[in-house]
Amino acid sequence: MTAPIPLSAGGSLYERIGPQALSALVTRFYTLVAQDPDLSPIFPADLTLTAEKQLAFLTGFLGGPPLYHQTYGPPRLRARHLPHAITPTRGQAWLACMDRALRDTPHIAGAEARELHAALARVAAHMVNTPGDGGGKVGQLFAID
Ligand code: HEM
Repeated sequence: MTAPIPLSAGGSLYERIGPQALSALVTRFYTLVAQDPDLSPIFPADLTLTAEKQLAFLTGFLGGPPLYHQTYGPPRLRARHLPHAITPTRGQAWLACMDRALRDTPHIAGAEARELHAALARVAAHMVNTPGDGGGKVGQLFAID
């Protein structure tokens, strides 16, 4: 699930987005997370380390150097998220923050933004570990493409 996504034409997503735009995206994303009423209660008040870990993870996930693995070991992301109640609503809020951050990061072109969104939507659906009030099926709540 969190193995690096395959190469496509033009190099890895990491190469096409570039480290600076990826870093800007992650910074913007956590600014939005901190302001989100569904997400902020389950995140630490200081998001510095969380953002560092996410940047390291995404770098490897998108085909760049495996920075997260080198520092923290295997991501085992679903297990690492189990202490947090991730409902379908929170999954959607996470993706909405990411979509907004993608739009707010001008150096990420549309094709790369769409590819990144699709990859992250799959991971986000996998992170949901707590049923919502609606009791619907998790997978159906996410637009994967
Ligand atoms: C589905 C919605 C999601 C929610 C609500 C969520 C929430 C969280 C929370 C509360 C933490 C702990 C923050 C901390 O204590 O520093 C965390 C950590 C993390 N999340 Fe998520 N997350 C979601 C999806 C994702 C996705 C899709 C990815 C990857 C693409 C991801 C990657 C990470 C990473 C790398 C960490 C740091 C793990 C560590 O402690 O080493 N998360 N997330």
